[in-house]
Amino acid sequence: MFYNYNMCGIVGYIGKKSALPIVLEGLKRLEYRGYDSAGVALWDQGSGKILWEKTTGRVAALETRLSEKSWESHTAIGHTRWATHGKPSDKNSHPHADCAENIFLVHNGIVENYAELKEALTREGHVFRSETDTEVLVHLVERELTMGNGKVVLEDALPEALRHVIGTFGLALISKNDPGKIVVARRGSPIILGLGEKEYLIASDASAIVEHTKNVVYLHDNEMAVLTPEDLKIYNFSKKILNKSIDKIDWDLESAQKGGYKHFMQKEIFEGPEALRNVLRGRILSDIGKVKLGGLKDLEKKLKNIKRIIITACGTSYYSGLIGKYYFEEFAKIPASVEHASEFRYGNPAIGEGDAVILISQSGETADTLQALREAKKRGALTLGIVNTVGSTIARESDAGVYNHAGPEIGVASTKAFISQVGALSLIALYFAGNRGTLPETLVNKILPELKLMPGKMEQILKKDKEIKKLAKKYLKYKNFIYFGRKYQFPVAMEGALKLKEISYKHAEGYAAGEMKHGPIALIDENFPVFALVPKDAVYEKTISNIEEIRARGGKIIAVATEGDEKIKKLADDVVFIPETLEALSPLLSVIPLQLFAYHTADLLGLDVDKPRNLAKSVTVE
Ligand code: F6R
Repeated sequence: MFYNYNMCGIVGYIGKKSALPIVLEGLKRLEYRGYDSAGVALWDQGSGKILWEKTTGRVAALETRLSEKSWESHTAIGHTRWATHGKPSDKNSHPHADCAENIFLVHNGIVENYAELKEALTREGHVFRSETDTEVLVHLVERELTMGNGKVVLEDALPEALRHVIGTFGLALISKNDPGKIVVARRGSPIILGLGEKEYLIASDASAIVEHTKNVVYLHDNEMAVLTPEDLKIYNFSKKILNKSIDKIDWDLESAQKGGYKHFMQKEIFEGPEALRNVLRGRILSDIGKVKLGGLKDLEKKLKNIKRIIITACGTSYYSGLIGKYYFEEFAKIPASVEHASEFRYGNPAIGEGDAVILISQSGETADTLQALREAKKRGALTLGIVNTVGSTIARESDAGVYNHAGPEIGVASTKAFISQVGALSLIALYFAGNRGTLPETLVNKILPELKLMPGKMEQILKKDKEIKKLAKKYLKYKNFIYFGRKYQFPVAMEGALKLKEISYKHAEGYAAGEMKHGPIALIDENFPVFALVPKDAVYEKTISNIEEIRARGGKIIAVATEGDEKIKKLADDVVFIPETLEALSPLLSVIPLQLFAYHTADLLGLDVDKPRNLAKSVTVE
């Protein structure tokens, strides 16, 4: 069974055992998801108070702090954070508390309208301690409990508070004034309830609780639960009691962490649609046909004067940058170029004021990209980061930027990060276009709604997983591959080839389809399969001619083409069809069969998919 995508980790316990060790152990099990900070809140038996502790760093750092205390508790909630809003710091760590430090809350997900809510709550006198989106939730609950409208228990106040929230949440809270219970709620971010003998556990992910119980209840969206040592009650947000069935988890710890998938890479390919939803979330204002990017809003005037864009990155991030170049030129009519960060930094680049240098990095720590950033800053260019890891060095040192919100990527081969980088680049280019009025309204009104449809279209391709595995089997014996495409498909071809070579150790090259006849076509014979990326776009006919040239030389063709394309069926040995979309957004679809093909090839060969030889997830050396 596959289950939902999730970023940070939540664990809670209520029952007769000592809660803190169970929660800390559970948090450690969730650290594979991200570990920039951790915290707990618990009912202390001795003092009868709620005590809390939180810190930047791993759960071990939290444990060290707690080792100095003699807290004893049977009720606790805890959190391990992977920052989305607000850098990793003690004050941004969860739990968050209300003004009076009565209510303590941990949260996974994103509150899209937190800025508006924070402003309103501040006007009402609430005092915020952190930069997070989460903190508004606890103040909203406080407001309901102190507004004098009869709400005295958490389970009454919470649904009222959540009515104001746009976004996603899986959350747990405890309150001094409402002892002996934990209340949890869910919309979009998973919450699992574990059922023991006179004890209950909560977790955002089964791996935190499989050791303690196999009996679980999955909370669905817009449901909440009240847990006491004796009882578990589940409600919808209208306080109607729900009778839910108990499921049995039959996973061990490792497969629980992979969400039932065999490898992290496979799981992350399947998280691609959600990664795209997350990068788009709250950033498309459909009603006015505009893009909103909080990270760039203070630069509006400066951005208008940008004359040229230079994108620089490494590996997969570089390939997403190549797609970004087309976006900036097509949408915003700004000259754009893309350079490998390792070349840029030593190339004595002629850049300065009036130039924007965009750094793309999943980890935010890649040494070459970081040095390129420093070089660009030294020369007076405006630096903008597209970074997945909040608070990473590149995120901190860039003048401004946009976070991907793709969640931690654990497989060494980058997959969902690529998807979210392309999403972020399209948004930034549309934002520039909006500033400059370079894109006709009709086109903006086509692109924005289509962007929102893309995750659904991606999911349709993921359903072809078995078909693509069969293809991987069929072509397993071949040692060399070429991937080709034109325009938007050219970077995808290079990304597809990189995926195959880095995890299956097969030789693969990505080429601009039109370049084949200038040399590489000499390689083609019946032992050299070619992946032809040929969706119905402006260069379709040209790519078809290139396919004909390969066929004439006995080459085998695996095509990635648009559904309903009858012509390609006759030309290719095999075809993977993808849904129809706008040319500019087609990379978000065509890359998926290539990711799956690489994954299955490596897996069928019995290779270590998540940790390919000679590679590291984050390359912090030159
Ligand atoms: C390929 C891959 C690498 C990274 C590259 C840049 O699958 O993962 O090519 O894309 O090392 O890493 P980041 O994006 O972290 O700067």
